[in-house]
Amino acid sequence: MIRIGICGAGRIGRVHIENLQSLRGCEVAGIVEPHPARLRAAVDDFGVSAYADLDTLLGDRSVDAVVVAAPSDAHADVACRALAAGKHVFIEKPLADTLEACRRIQQAAARAGRVAQTGFCERFNVHYLEARRAVRTGQLGVVRAIHTSRYAPCRSADPNWPLGVLDTAVHNLDLILWLFGRLPRSVLARGVQVYGNPPIPHSATILLTFDDGAMAVEQIAWLDDAGHPLGHCARSRMMIQGTHGVFTVDLEDRPSSLLSQGDYRQVDTVILGAREYPGCLKLQFEYFLQAIESGAPVLAPIEDAVKVERVALAAKESLETGREVSL
Ligand SMILES: NC(=O)c1ccc[n+]([C@@H]2O[C@H](COP(=O)([O-])OP(=O)(O)OC[C@H]3O[C@@H](n4cnc5c(N)ncnc54)[C@H](O)[C@@H]3O)[C@@H](O)[C@H]2O)c1
Repeated sequence: MIRIGICGAGRIGRVHIENLQSLRGCEVAGIVEPHPARLRAAVDDFGVSAYADLDTLLGDRSVDAVVVAAPSDAHADVACRALAAGKHVFIEKPLADTLEACRRIQQAAARAGRVAQTGFCERFNVHYLEARRAVRTGQLGVVRAIHTSRYAPCRSADPNWPLGVLDTAVHNLDLILWLFGRLPRSVLARGVQVYGNPPIPHSATILLTFDDGAMAVEQIAWLDDAGHPLGHCARSRMMIQGTHGVFTVDLEDRPSSLLSQGDYRQVDTVILGAREYPGCLKLQFEYFLQAIESGAPVLAPIEDAVKVERVALAAKESLETGREVSL
């Protein structure tokens, strides 16, 4: 039985507690949550116990792993302390708020030799797994362009989001790098503040250009759309355009499809018992547990999250300066 401590019982921390409680082979040992009302709500709702602070959690020798679901500017501190205490870590995306903090986590993970996985849950989404398979098996020919978009619930009420909307854009930036298998040469971004303070962009377009001239575009928005039937979750789309085919994903309402050399088919992406987005949030933990239990490879490793952070920070710089940023 793998025992897991949770740091941060906010929006996603609560989802993780519920998912972990539904999986075999693990149990939630307890939570650390500095906000008293959120702490009480999680204890009452999930029947979990509370640790007084992070040191108490890390001092509990029965705890094998820590899930870091605090805001991104707290990730490095919590993750590095957990790794130094010999715990495996699952760290929510984005890996941290600065490149320096990301590298600290990377070094701490290498030193500790523990499992370290990031929260790029879309890598476990069957639509994107099929997309990657189509790319890898050459069914699209040479990929020349990827168009992505993601609309997520607005987070502007929280003043502590250093990356603004880029905090969410990292999901699709990760998918783009994962599909291309390399970093872009340059990043250009434009964004706009839509809602009140803090003055962060709520909507942005990010253009990545690769060495061979290939390109990718991510359109990202935080929407104030609480009344929308899908307002509680992210809506994501992707179109991969290759010299011999096209793969499309529309998580909102259409099946994914593959057009390869004139042959069109819809891709079977049905998972019984779970919609894809919540499904992949749960599935990522099945793989995390397998990596701890049997040394299976980590499918969303720290080093990939550091690369994504470089792209996200280049996009941030481009938003601030108006200039295209070379990597
Ligand atoms: N994978 C996904 O789909 C997904 C979805 C939402 C959020 N996230 C990521 O998860 C992280 C948290 O996001 P959220 O929406 O749950 O934020 P949130 O503000 O709702 O919750 C964060 C919680 O962490 C607590 N916290 C702050 N500092 C802490 C610390 N040092 N130790 C323990 N707890 C601490 C806060 O009090 C708060 O309750 C962010 O990195 C975010 O980008 C990922």
